[in-house]
Amino acid sequence: MTKFHVIIPAAGSGSRMATVLPKQYLPLAGRPIVSWTLEPFLTCERIASVHLVLSADDAHWQAHATHHPKLSTLHCGGETRAETVLNALKVLNVEPSDWILVHDAARPGLTHQLLDYLLDEVEDDEVGGLLAIPLADTLKRADAKQRVASTEPREGLWQAQTPQMFRYGILKEALIKSGGAPTDEAQAVEALGLSPKLVTGQLRNLKITYPQDLALAEAIIAADHHEAKK
Ligand code: CTP
Ligand code: MG
Repeated sequence: MTKFHVIIPAAGSGSRMATVLPKQYLPLAGRPIVSWTLEPFLTCERIASVHLVLSADDAHWQAHATHHPKLSTLHCGGETRAETVLNALKVLNVEPSDWILVHDAARPGLTHQLLDYLLDEVEDDEVGGLLAIPLADTLKRADAKQRVASTEPREGLWQAQTPQMFRYGILKEALIKSGGAPTDEAQAVEALGLSPKLVTGQLRNLKITYPQDLALAEAIIAADHHEAKK
């Protein structure tokens, strides 16, 4: 049977966050961000294994480690996110047709429902797919002085999120050919001439990139807590 495996790249330094501690370890509602990120995968019965990919010199995971029979840690992070994912693919022992879900360590707001929805929407797809959101705001192109040069049509534009889900064989081939440059897996798969499926995600599945994103993620978790207590 085709299995689902998860790769969580967590070897970034979080330069835009500008904290000493890499952002995946920052506290969010009392727990490290990465611990929230892992939870929906570790507790989803459809997921066979979860692989957290750390940089070779990671000095923080030990202090924050979550233990779970489905979870393994790999110390093979690369220079770029794509390299980190490819390094992990090279050491995974799975079938070429198995599904690989890649999810950012810095996206702690994924729900079980959204994960299930993605798996349902993509598991029978030829190519694979990703969570994404249709662009809501009007789009401006800036000039060199940060003044508006033009308004761009937003029709047909989506913001990519993760998880991004592709079969092991296709994803590995795509990332080997990509040379480590793409900022997401879909971009590498697109370069093979394939068209990944866009599955509607949710704003709550935001990526923590800038300091203000942390307050938003805290508010979302607080609202979940409030809802669960009702
Ligand atoms: N990532 C990785 N290996 C890299 C770069 C990024 O595993 N060489 C991971 C990050 O840890 C994060 C995810 O890819 O979970 C998304 O990347 P991003 O949000 O860009 O994180 P950083 O690269 O750490 O942040 P920044 O770009 O601000 O430095
Ligand atoms: Mg980055």
